Amino acid sequence: MRPEGLKTRIFLDGGDPGETREVLGLLGFLDGQTTNPTLIAKNPDARRRLEQGGKFSAEEIYRFYKSVVREISAFIPEGSVSVEVYADRDTTAEKMLLQGKEMSSWIPNAHIKFPSSREGLRAAEQAVREGLRVNMTLCFTQEQAAAVYAATRSAEKGTVFVSPFIGRLDDRGENGMDIISNIIRMYSRGDGHVEVLTASVRTSAHMYYALKLGSDIITAPFRILKEWGEQGLRIPGDAYEYNAGTLMKIPYKEIALSKKWQDYNISHDLTDKGIEKFSEDWNSLIT
Ligand code: E4P
Repeated sequence: MRPEGLKTRIFLDGGDPGETREVLGLLGFLDGQTTNPTLIAKNPDARRRLEQGGKFSAEEIYRFYKSVVREISAFIPEGSVSVEVYADRDTTAEKMLLQGKEMSSWIPNAHIKFPSSREGLRAAEQAVREGLRVNMTLCFTQEQAAAVYAATRSAEKGTVFVSPFIGRLDDRGENGMDIISNIIRMYSRGDGHVEVLTASVRTSAHMYYALKLGSDIITAPFRILKEWGEQGLRIPGDAYEYNAGTLMKIPYKEIALSKKWQDYNISHDLTDKGIEKFSEDWNSLIT
C-alpha cells in the first residue's frame, strides 16, 4: 500500500510489463512507468527474438513498442506511462511531433518523451499547444530545465515532466543529486506547471534523497523499488543525510524563468551522447 505521508509519485523505470506486475505485487501501488529505447531493447521478448537471429522491420518495432506500452498501461490505468520518440542527431522537431502524436494515441495515459535538445524543445512547445503530455528527457542542467519551463509555459500542471538524469552525472564524478535540488529550488519561484521527475536512479540513497528533497516523481529500476519494498517503503525524515562521497558539487545558479526558451544555453554533451546511444539501441533492433 502507498505509505501515508508519501507525496512523491513512484514510477518504475523499465520496458518489461512482467516487472510492472511484480512491482505492483511488491509495493501494493505504482504511480506510473517510464520507458526508453534502451529499456525496450532489453525487453525479454525482444531479446529472445534477437537471440534467435530475428530483427524487427521499422513497422514491426513500433507495433512491438505499442504492445509493450499497452500491456504496461493496463496494469496502471490511473498512472502515467512515458513513451519516447525516436530521435537521432538529425531528427527534426516535426518528425518528433508526428511520432509523439501517434504514440499518444496508443494509450490514454501517455507522456511523450522528447530530448531536452533544441529540436526536442521545439517539438515539446508545439506538442503542449496541441494538448499532448510531455516528459523532457536527458536533462543535465538547470538551464535545460529553465528552457523546458519556458517552452511549455502554456501547459497545465501534471502535463509536463522534466527528467534530470542523476546517475549519468554521478558516472562522470559530478553530484547528480545537486541538479535535483537546484531545479526544485529554481522552480519554487515558478507557477508549478513543470514537475521534476528524478531519473537515472542507481542506488537506494538516490531514491531516499530525492524523497527528502520532495521530487514530484521518482522513476527507479525494478531492483531499487524491490529494495525499497524490502526496507518497508521507508520515507526518510529530516535527519536523513545524503553522502555524495567524492562527487563534485554542482553549484546553484540564479536563473530567471521569464526568458524565451531559445535564450537559454541548453547544449550539453551528455544530452548529445544520450540521443546517440538511444538511437543506436533502437536501431540495433531493426533489420
Ligand atoms: C527514465 O526516464 C530514463 O530514461 C532512465 O532513468 C535513464 O536511466 P539510465 O541513465 O540508467 O540509462
